[in-house]
Amino acid sequence: MARLIQLAAICVAAVQGVDAAVSFAIPNTVGAGGRSYAPLDPAPVGISFEFFAFPSYFTNVTATNQCLSNWKDLTGTWPPIRIGGTTQDRASYDASTSAYVVYSVASPADAPMTLTFGPKFMTLAGTYPGRVVVGLNRGKNNIANTIAAAKMAVAEVKNLLAIELGNEPEYYLKDGQPIAAGTWNPSVDATSQVNWNIQVGSAVGKTYIIQTGNWNQAPPEWGAAQFIAKENTTSKQYVRHYAHHNYPGGTIQKLQTHSQTASNVRNLFEADVAAVKRQTGKEYVLGETNSVSGGGAANVSPTFGAALWTLDYILLAAATNISRVYFHHGTVSNCQYCFWGRYSIGAPYYGATAAVAFLAGARYISALDAGNTNYAAYASFDGERRPLRVLLLNSDYYTGSGSRGVQSFTLTGLTGQAVKAKRLTAGSSLSRADRGDDLSFGGQFWVNGTCVVGGTERFETASVQNGQATFDVKAAEALIVNL
Ligand SMILES: *[C@@H]1O[C@H](CO)[C@@H](O)[C@H](O)[C@H]1NC(C)=O
Ligand SMILES: *[C@@H]1O[C@H](CO)[C@@H](O)[C@H](O)[C@H]1NC(C)=O
Ligand SMILES: *[C@@H]1O[C@H](CO)[C@@H](O)[C@H](O)[C@H]1NC(C)=O
Ligand SMILES: *[C@@H]1O[C@H](CO)[C@@H](O)[C@H](O)[C@H]1NC(C)=O
Repeated sequence: MARLIQLAAICVAAVQGVDAAVSFAIPNTVGAGGRSYAPLDPAPVGISFEFFAFPSYFTNVTATNQCLSNWKDLTGTWPPIRIGGTTQDRASYDASTSAYVVYSVASPADAPMTLTFGPKFMTLAGTYPGRVVVGLNRGKNNIANTIAAAKMAVAEVKNLLAIELGNEPEYYLKDGQPIAAGTWNPSVDATSQVNWNIQVGSAVGKTYIIQTGNWNQAPPEWGAAQFIAKENTTSKQYVRHYAHHNYPGGTIQKLQTHSQTASNVRNLFEADVAAVKRQTGKEYVLGETNSVSGGGAANVSPTFGAALWTLDYILLAAATNISRVYFHHGTVSNCQYCFWGRYSIGAPYYGATAAVAFLAGARYISALDAGNTNYAAYASFDGERRPLRVLLLNSDYYTGSGSRGVQSFTLTGLTGQAVKAKRLTAGSSLSRADRGDDLSFGGQFWVNGTCVVGGTERFETASVQNGQATFDVKAAEALIVNL
């Protein structure tokens, strides 16, 4: 019914040129109304650190600990991290080095073509109080070296969640990786992953330890379903999660548009996630993701439009039964999509933090809209299956010139006299925190270099009448309503 009202409202708006309210009915409990609900991880938003850069982030970038602990303060759980990326398949373990990592690059903006890492690398990963996924090398086809590194990871990383064996293996042939010599395709890679999962899992003496898959090319060709068909009971016991990567790309407008994000997430992953759930009962994660591949796009990834994408994407992924999403962070201070660097905080941190705040303490999520307009609504639910918060997103693009549209959202099924809300806003879709533009979440911002919150937290109040309230959300804005 809500959907019919919504579509009708949009048709009226289109005809009359006014922003008639879209309306959403809040389900009074998880399971109500014949909709889909997904269970939530206690900390579904994670960070991925490029393998070679991980020690720098944790020893030489002040913001790292604070940006992560800001989320722990919201949820009570440290965000999960994943250490990996292209350079995990360029790295060799060297038990004799006392350094975290050893490499040389022509410019600090470069990623190394080859590197070694020592035991201290894993000791450092073991100091992180949250869950850690460690990505190791398969491309070089030196399983003895990878097993030695895996043993060190198991010994040193006390919150080790999983080990990856290889990053985006579909590119191994193009990258000249030794393991891909001869024929390399999804089937050959799957046989290789099955063997490595068994050999590394048994060498470290742990089942339920491998985060497998890790492809970037789309399913079903490079997906979990085809891989599961190649597994047997021996290899399956070592798998903890199935992972995929994703970088949707596009212009700011395309990136922030809700219907685009919905079709990206659902068309690519819905079937693969369902296959994993049905056939294994295990979790599906986006083990590495961000707005645009290759470190981000200079004019897209650091913008407020990308922040709105980050928020929407996290919630869509969660509502699609994707358990955790790890946003990739590459070379320090040469990273357009990074949430933070040595000197500044990126706009996407604002969107990600709004998502973390929306999901804090929630146990279930449901997407209330059908994903075919610019106007999104999500509901989260607590452990008693009662509605906790609603997120409203107006993903209309706004460049900052001309009048800014406003969309009204009506929520029905509210209880009480009034509700409080927090707004995620900025001057336009193009606003950038790293250029001093005015971004805020509930009136607050994060300080460059430290990631300490600044400003005074601000809530808006809306009165509820007959179980309804209406909220205005400007083009390129989002609002979190506390129920
Ligand atoms: C998510 O998975 C659960 C089973 O764990 C299932 O009941 C539910 O329908 C799924 N939700 C969606 C949105 O696919
Ligand atoms: C920390 O980063 C600075 C700035 O890039 C660099 O000059 C310095 O060598 C780094 N220190 C360590 C210990 O990595
Ligand atoms: C599964 O496959 C591996 C590798 O081919 C093999 O060593 C193992 O015996 C197989 N397990 C079963 C139960 O067939
Ligand atoms: C952060 O640094 C950028 C780049 O130097 C600057 O434009 C901006 O004003 C700073 N923001 C804050 C909140 O200090």
